[in-house]
Amino acid sequence: MGKGVAAALAKEAEVIIVARSEERAKATVDELGPNASYVLADLARLADVRRVTEELHAQHDALDGIFVNAGLGYAAGRVETEDGMDSHFQVNYLSHFMLTLNLLDLLERSEHGGRVIFNVASFGEMDWDDLQMERTWGYERGIGQAMVAKRMLVARLHALCRARDDSRVSFVGFQIPKTVWSNQINIIPWPMRFMATVVKLFGGFISIDDCGRIMAPLFTEPHASSLRRSGKLITEKKGALVEIPDIDFVLDPAEQDRLWRVSLALSDDDATRRIADQLVDKLAS
Ligand SMILES: NC(=O)c1ccc[n+]([C@@H]2O[C@H](COP(=O)([O-])OP(=O)(O)OC[C@H]3O[C@@H](n4cnc5c(N)ncnc54)[C@H](OP(=O)(O)O)[C@@H]3O)[C@@H](O)[C@H]2O)c1
Repeated sequence: MGKGVAAALAKEAEVIIVARSEERAKATVDELGPNASYVLADLARLADVRRVTEELHAQHDALDGIFVNAGLGYAAGRVETEDGMDSHFQVNYLSHFMLTLNLLDLLERSEHGGRVIFNVASFGEMDWDDLQMERTWGYERGIGQAMVAKRMLVARLHALCRARDDSRVSFVGFQIPKTVWSNQINIIPWPMRFMATVVKLFGGFISIDDCGRIMAPLFTEPHASSLRRSGKLITEKKGALVEIPDIDFVLDPAEQDRLWRVSLALSDDDATRRIADQLVDKLAS
């Protein structure tokens, strides 16, 4: 999905891909053309996230938008990262928390109005007693928990920035309306692939190019329109971008605050903590 959106945007804008494999990043950049470049980071490593935000600061004075997208889907079993976390939790949520906070200043300097578009879906639950899924693991459970966490982050960042009367950056959760025929198809076991192929024949999937066509306007629309969507969960219906109401749990400030504090503790990163403190301090003052 990231590639589909990057391809749509690279026709007229400079696009930087954050990728874990240099070989695949080079091939993608060659395909996308002269407006595309890459930086390397394995989002399963906190140290890589820290390094890549420093690299982006060294290379750029401002960013117009971030697509918070990369994520693990199907997995045969639980994988623990070298930081001691569940890989779905770390790659699909915590790395995005860190990246977004550390790139906020570059987004604030955008001449077009910075925006963060989170690729989310409206399912999932938080398991506060087993966040790292050591007791009960399932890949769908891991994807779902990260989706809820990202939706809570959208609402929290929006609330923090608006409360200090700061409208330089918008934060939008976007749910693609149909399942996407992505690289997941090459990863899932063959019975699932067979079923998916049948469903595809009946029009049950959309392509990554469709994804790019649907989602690119979120990055290019005027900032005033993007600000009106900020803090919300959006999808596409009959060619229009429409809001979907999110569940009470996601919108509860106490739950958002709990996730915020857990995320800071798990990131264990001074720079991220400083940025978070500044956001919350301005709110208090
Ligand atoms: N497919 C759908 O219908 C659908 C619907 C709603 C939301 N989503 C969400 O959309 C996102 C993309 O899904 P997709 O279907 O496009 O999956 P995909 O084809 O498997 O692509 C996932 C992307 O994430 C990258 N990635 C995975 N782990 C990474 C890591 N540790 N560090 C850096 N990059 C990493 C992959 O890089 P490599 O090339 O190195 O593997 C790949 O480019 C996911 O968050 C998914 O949950 C998907």
